[in-house]
Amino acid sequence: MASDTATVALAGMDANLQEDIDRALIALDGTQNKARLGANATVAVSLATLHAAAGAQGLPLFRYLAQGKPARLPLPEIQIFGGGAHAGRRIDIQDLMVMALAAASFDEALEMTARVYHAAGELMRDAGKLRGVADEGGWWPEFASNEEAIETLVRAIARAGFVPGDEVAISLDIAASEFGSGGLYRLGLDAKSLDSDGMCELVLGWLARYPIVSVEDPLAEDDREGMMRFTAAAGHRVQIIGDDYLTTSAARVQAAIADRACNAVLLKPNQCGTVTETRAALDLAKAAGWGCIVSARSGETEDLSIVHLATGWDAGQLKVGSFARGERMAKWNEALRIEEMLGAGAHFAGRAVLSLTQS
Ligand code: PGA
Ligand code: ZN
Repeated sequence: MASDTATVALAGMDANLQEDIDRALIALDGTQNKARLGANATVAVSLATLHAAAGAQGLPLFRYLAQGKPARLPLPEIQIFGGGAHAGRRIDIQDLMVMALAAASFDEALEMTARVYHAAGELMRDAGKLRGVADEGGWWPEFASNEEAIETLVRAIARAGFVPGDEVAISLDIAASEFGSGGLYRLGLDAKSLDSDGMCELVLGWLARYPIVSVEDPLAEDDREGMMRFTAAAGHRVQIIGDDYLTTSAARVQAAIADRACNAVLLKPNQCGTVTETRAALDLAKAAGWGCIVSARSGETEDLSIVHLATGWDAGQLKVGSFARGERMAKWNEALRIEEMLGAGAHFAGRAVLSLTQS
């Protein structure tokens, strides 16, 4: 029924006027959080509009979005071990990922990451701990502690033949809202309860001991002071991404810029529900010199739009899960196709995107 209403509301509108269509969708929904229509429904219509507009001009979506500027392939952030809610809470950290800093192209970044992914699988197999993959395709995290997962990832990078931190570095999504609220964090695997300061210290300790260049949601979404303390302590040398903390909301990004509560934003179009709102969050973040990471979801389809958003908008980074499963590989493959299409003229964001947050 909702889709009939949307058809009537949007019938006759010009697909080139993305903001008008998105405004009509927002008005039709009429709630603060797309509760009536659902963000998955509105984002589908919003993205279909974008595809129609690009198609009418005979342009691939990334080119339409780039508006004549050179498109730039993003640095991929790729999961090696899954965890948290995506792996039955076997470990507390949600994503243990790598970023191929030494790669000169998207193709090379995938090649390097594939080697780390396989090396990690071999380490698990040798330890008798290979149990298949988690929700987003990363290896199932059969570890005795959260720190053992990070240590194993460092070993996998080295086993693949790379210098950890220099050629391939670690990125963590702690997703702390999954095990923390009201200033109390319960780490199931480490059998520890920590207050906000304790949680800050724990993650800062990992940053000091391991080659980590990026951390997402180190504190819970309700822990504003914790995020501010954490960013004051580490924001000059590490990318600190707000996902649950910012919910792809321009208003939240603006508040966090003022608070200095992070220095990068995760952009999930179906979290806010329209292309225009996603773009608004990106624009604010970019203007503040923040990092921008376009991201897939844990429950994902094979839709490829986010690869084009990341490239055409020059977001700089792309997070899609691991190096396995069709809905993940479809996106990596699309980025490869774009790079191939651009040929010698292809630009790749590379490690430079991280220097934004490491002045
Ligand atoms: P979600 O996780 O899609 O389950 O929100 C993705 C992420 O936290 O980055
Ligand atoms: Zn996250």
